[in-house]
Amino acid sequence: MEEKILIVDDEEVVCHILDKRLTMEGYFCTTSNNGKEALDRFYKESFSLIISDIKMPEMNGIELLKRVKAIHPKMKMIMVTAYPEIDMAVEAMKLGAYDFLIKPVDLELVVLSVKRALESKRLEEEIEAYHNRLEELVGERTAKLQQAYRTLKKAHLDSVKVLAEAIDAKDPYTRGHSDRVKRMSLRIAEGLGLSEERLEALEYGALLHDIGKIGIKDEILQKQGPLSPEEYRIIQAHPLIGEKIVEGVEFFRDKIPMIRHHHEHYDGNGYPDGLAGEQIPLEARIITVPDAFDAMTSIRPHRKARPLQEVLEELKKFRGTQFDPQILDYFLKEKVYKLL
Ligand SMILES: [Fe+2]
Repeated sequence: MEEKILIVDDEEVVCHILDKRLTMEGYFCTTSNNGKEALDRFYKESFSLIISDIKMPEMNGIELLKRVKAIHPKMKMIMVTAYPEIDMAVEAMKLGAYDFLIKPVDLELVVLSVKRALESKRLEEEIEAYHNRLEELVGERTAKLQQAYRTLKKAHLDSVKVLAEAIDAKDPYTRGHSDRVKRMSLRIAEGLGLSEERLEALEYGALLHDIGKIGIKDEILQKQGPLSPEEYRIIQAHPLIGEKIVEGVEFFRDKIPMIRHHHEHYDGNGYPDGLAGEQIPLEARIITVPDAFDAMTSIRPHRKARPLQEVLEELKKFRGTQFDPQILDYFLKEKVYKLL
């Protein structure tokens, strides 16, 4: 690409000499006799470099330098000054001029300074391009990593879903129970404003809340008719069995409270620990509501599906005893059960 140089000097002859010499070097030069005119040209055209005298009428070189740098901080400017103006040259360097040359100018020095300035500009542009490319690369890698993470997370969730189906398969009448409880629990938790992180943990916790049933004999789980006190005791062990099943897996550690406490009652009469009120982890208090709702609406061997209105009335009877009143109210008011 051809390098364009703007030469600014109120002495026509200086402009001419510089123009001639730099054109010989293969640069394309434009000249201007004062700072104001030069600034106009700078606004309209694009230059690789400006060589400017300091002392000029209308707008001096320092003012031109300030204006140029305000718009284009990386613009290279070489200042030319007569010996008595050395202080101004120092000020120009402080303001970001690339170099300064003393009049009468040595043309070889001018050529050298121009070459150095343009080389420095080229290097800066190269570094900038490199940084941009680096940022682009980091962006691409980050996107790939995020995609890989999403794929991995989905694969993981899918395997947990398989596990949840295995839990539901223990009792053929509760097919899809874990998934329904998960969906309703998430809907409640979103409504209560739980963080993304807690919602994600709840998704797994709700899916696996009954995992302990895997350790209970089918004859008991699927028994038609009333259970003996001993059979009740065995069934009531499923939150603890569930905890035992997952406790060795780091990923499930924060889901344990949901598995262990999903049968606690708000008034303290639940199991296994008889926790009450806010002692019961919020996620477990949430899971309890859709868990009970879904158990009541599912068809059992000895019973037809109950009408929705009857189930809702039944839930209301246990507001504040079995269920956290706030969570139950939300469940009923927002008709969370309609998700199904
Ligand atoms: Fe359960």
